[in-house]
Amino acid sequence: MSEKRIDPDDKTAYTWEELAAYYKGKYKKKEVEAYWEECKPAMRQKKGKGKGAAEPEPKAKAKAKTKAKAEAEPKAKVKAKAKAKAVVKKAAKAGPFKVCVCGGAGGIGQPLSMFMAMDPNVKELSIFDLDIAMVPPAGVAADLSHLEKKVDVKGYVMPVGQKPIDHTEAALTGCSLVLIPAGMPRKPGQTRDDLFKINADIAKGLVEACAKYCPEAIVALIVNPVNSIVPAMAELYEKKGLDPMKIVGVTTLDCVRAAKFVGNITGKNPNFINVPVVGGHAGKTILPLFSQDKTAKTIEADKIPDLDVKVQDAGTEVVNAKNGKGSATLSMGYAGARLGKAVLAGLAGFRRVECAYVKSDAMEGFKYFTSKVVFGDKGVSKVLPIGDLSEHEKTRMEEVKEAMKAEIETGMKYAEANDLAA
Ligand code: NAD
Ligand code: LMR
Repeated sequence: MSEKRIDPDDKTAYTWEELAAYYKGKYKKKEVEAYWEECKPAMRQKKGKGKGAAEPEPKAKAKAKTKAKAEAEPKAKVKAKAKAKAVVKKAAKAGPFKVCVCGGAGGIGQPLSMFMAMDPNVKELSIFDLDIAMVPPAGVAADLSHLEKKVDVKGYVMPVGQKPIDHTEAALTGCSLVLIPAGMPRKPGQTRDDLFKINADIAKGLVEACAKYCPEAIVALIVNPVNSIVPAMAELYEKKGLDPMKIVGVTTLDCVRAAKFVGNITGKNPNFINVPVVGGHAGKTILPLFSQDKTAKTIEADKIPDLDVKVQDAGTEVVNAKNGKGSATLSMGYAGARLGKAVLAGLAGFRRVECAYVKSDAMEGFKYFTSKVVFGDKGVSKVLPIGDLSEHEKTRMEEVKEAMKAEIETGMKYAEANDLAA
């Protein structure tokens, strides 16, 4: 069944087809699409369950309703139209945007670039990578440039061993969002922390280039270890007089996994499950708050500790299954794009909430923490509080804090010892 969203005008749920049919001929398709983006998804209710349970609406009835609505043209609808126009006007000021994927020819970079190329908020996509990448970035760009989308995709290459700041002017200038999966993935037996030495320098080179060519862009760091690299890069930005809130650690995959695993246990559609995952992105620092999702909180308490560990270990499960040939790439491409799209929607005037690892006051005593974050027209517009915790989550939070301390410290020390070039 296709997704329904609530039209804020009459608080009724419609499919895209129904809403589009109603506004057809009255507004441009793009305007209606923008209005649809503003509508909140409707929760599906089971027939006969609970007070006010929604009757499944037969197509014909929905159609008739659509027609009747169009004919009657009530005052409220006129107001909604004005609102739609206002919303579109606001959106039209900003996007669509230029986006760069650094490491765009890699395991994550390729699917991530594909998802971003499909986002109507992206007008130009730069694929940046090394000359030793598994595919030349120009090849990834040529491939993606055949999608029947309005986006203009270009590839940019840098000889290995050189500095991004000398090779990224064209790729980065004008970007509103830079996604960085560039870096080494884990092999079985390694921790994410083992990647710090090599990946921090890769991230620094790219962040240095962002500071020069697109200092206002949101820089979304996927490269591991996120827990240490994000504080390192945000502190380096701050040292240079730039806004550390532009540096965003991508932890979305943990939320994707938590929703999926809760769906598996409960039999409910994971699309409607939203488990915030807070703390950080490595082992015990990954803390899914099952108590804060209406489906997840129905799971028996004795099943929660194992489910929690399953989310913590999901990355390692993929590393082991890939047997030395990389870590999560496809699910990460999907998750990175979910975050990237949320950032762009926010920039376009449609606020979105996602979990992300940023400079934060969400946890006392911690300068960096993952929590729910509101993305607005300037990027991170609000860091939301952690919220209420169950007894299990309270105990786990102590473990999270213990582990996060050292990992944040690693990043802070790196920032003290380094500077971004001019
Ligand atoms: P990969 O080796 O397949 O791809 C990395 C790409 O980065 C390669 O194409 C490489 O050429 C490129 N690269 C390296 N240095 C570069 C530079 N200076 N400039 C431009 N490109 C450069 O690895 P992958 O599987 O895509 O993983 C990338 C990173 O993402 C790893 O560090 C991995 O641990 C991390 N990761 C994070 C998450 C998360 O949830 N945040 C999830 C999965 C993987
Ligand atoms: C993940 O969670 O899949 C990534 O952080 C990659 C990894 O090394 O586990």
